[in-house]
Amino acid sequence: MENFSIFNPTKLFFGKDVVLKLGKNVSKKSKNVLIVYGKGSIENNGILDTVKTQLNSEGINFVIYKGIKSNPIIEDVDGAISVGVENMVDGIVAIGGGSVIDSAKIIALGIAEKAKGWDIMKFIVTPKSVIPLYAVLTLAATGTEMNSFAVVQNHKTGEKIGYASPLINPLESYLDPSYTYSVPADYTSYGIADIIAHCLEAFFGQGECDLTDMFTASIIKNVMEVAPKLLNDLTNYDYRAQIMYAATMGLNGTTSFGKISADWGVHALGHDLSLLYDTPHGASLAIAYPAWLKVKKEEVADRIARLGELVFGTNDIDITIQKFEEFFVSIKCPVRLSEINVTESNRQEYISSLIKNKASGYNILINEEEYNLLFETMLK
Ligand code: NZQ
Ligand code: ZN
Repeated sequence: MENFSIFNPTKLFFGKDVVLKLGKNVSKKSKNVLIVYGKGSIENNGILDTVKTQLNSEGINFVIYKGIKSNPIIEDVDGAISVGVENMVDGIVAIGGGSVIDSAKIIALGIAEKAKGWDIMKFIVTPKSVIPLYAVLTLAATGTEMNSFAVVQNHKTGEKIGYASPLINPLESYLDPSYTYSVPADYTSYGIADIIAHCLEAFFGQGECDLTDMFTASIIKNVMEVAPKLLNDLTNYDYRAQIMYAATMGLNGTTSFGKISADWGVHALGHDLSLLYDTPHGASLAIAYPAWLKVKKEEVADRIARLGELVFGTNDIDITIQKFEEFFVSIKCPVRLSEINVTESNRQEYISSLIKNKASGYNILINEEEYNLLFETMLK
C-alpha cells in the first residue's frame, strides 16, 4: 500500500430538499453571484426557480450565464468569466451536470484571477485564489460535485483536457436525487457507464490496496444492480439516490486511497471521440472500455481476474470482459463505433487526434500501434 493523505474541502449536502439551505449558506460568503447553467433543462423542471427563490429570500443579487453545452467549450467559459468580472460577482451558483459544474470551476478561477480559461487550463497562469462555487447537481455521473477536476474542450487547438487543483473543489454541493428525475433514459445510462468507468480507471491505476479495490468493486456491483431497476422507473427516489451517491463516491478520492494514481487511458480514448464527434462522455466510455479490456487483456490479466472475482465471482478474464460489455448493452449504451456513426472512413482523423493528444494511461501505456487495434476493436 502507498502512503496517502485524505483531504476533501467540499461540503456536500445530500437528500430531499437540501437546496432549501442554499440561500442561507450562500449569504454567509456571497452577496452578488453568477448563476451558470446549460441549455435549459432547469427552466423546464423548476430547479432554476427554486434556486432564484432561495437567493431572493436572502437578498442575494444574481446575474445569469446560460448556454453551457454538453462537452463544454472554452468560449463559454470565457464568456461567463467576462460577465462575472463585469458584474464584480463574489460567488458562482452552478446548476447542472458535469459540463456546467466543470465550466464553473474554471470560471471561478478566471473571475478571481481576471484570466482567460485556457491560460489557466494550460498552466500559463497559475491561480492563487478562487471565488466560492456552490454546485447544484442535476445529473449523476462525473463526481465533479466533490472533486478537484474540470474537463473542457478547445476546438481551435483540438483538445479536450482535464485540469486539477484543490482550489476548484466546490465549496458546497447540493445533491437532491429528485433533481435527477427528469434526466432522460439515455443520459441516465451514460451517467451509469461513466460511474463504472471511473471505478475501472481507479482499479487499473498504479499501486495496490486491496481494501480500496473492494470499495471500488462494491460501487460497480451496486450500480449494476440498481441500474436496470432505475431505467424501468426513472422517478424512483431510492434508485436515483443510490446512483447519485455511487457517482460521488466513484470519483471523490475514495477509490484511489492507498494507490498512486488512477489510469485514465480509456478516458483519453473517449475524450477524442467526444471532441471529434460530440459523443456524450459516458457513451464514449461504453465503446472504449470493452475494446481496451480486449486489447490489454494479456498485459493486465491478473487485474482483470481480480476484478472478475470481486464483481462477478469468476476469475475468467474473457467472461469478465463479456459481462461488462453485456451490461453496457443491457442499459442501451453504444458499444461499437457504428452506433455513433463513426466508420472506417474516420480511422485516420481519430488516430491522428490520439497521436496529437498523446492519448495514454498513466499506469498502462497505449502505443500508436495499439491505437489502430483499439479502433478496429471498437468497430467490430
Ligand atoms: O444543458 P442542460 O439543459 O443542462 O441539459 C443537460 C445535457 O443536455 C442534461 N441534463 C442535466 N441535468 C438534467 C438534464 N436533463 C434533464 N433533467 C436534468 N435534471 O443532460 C445532458 C448532459 O449533461 P452533461 O453535464 O454534459 O453530462 P455529464 O454530467 O455527464 O457531464 C459530462 C462532462 O463532464 C466531464 C466529461 O468529459 C463531459 O465534458 N467529466 C468531468 C469529470 C470531472 N470533473 O471529474 C470526470 C469525468 O470523467 C468527465 O470527464
Ligand atoms: Zn468520466
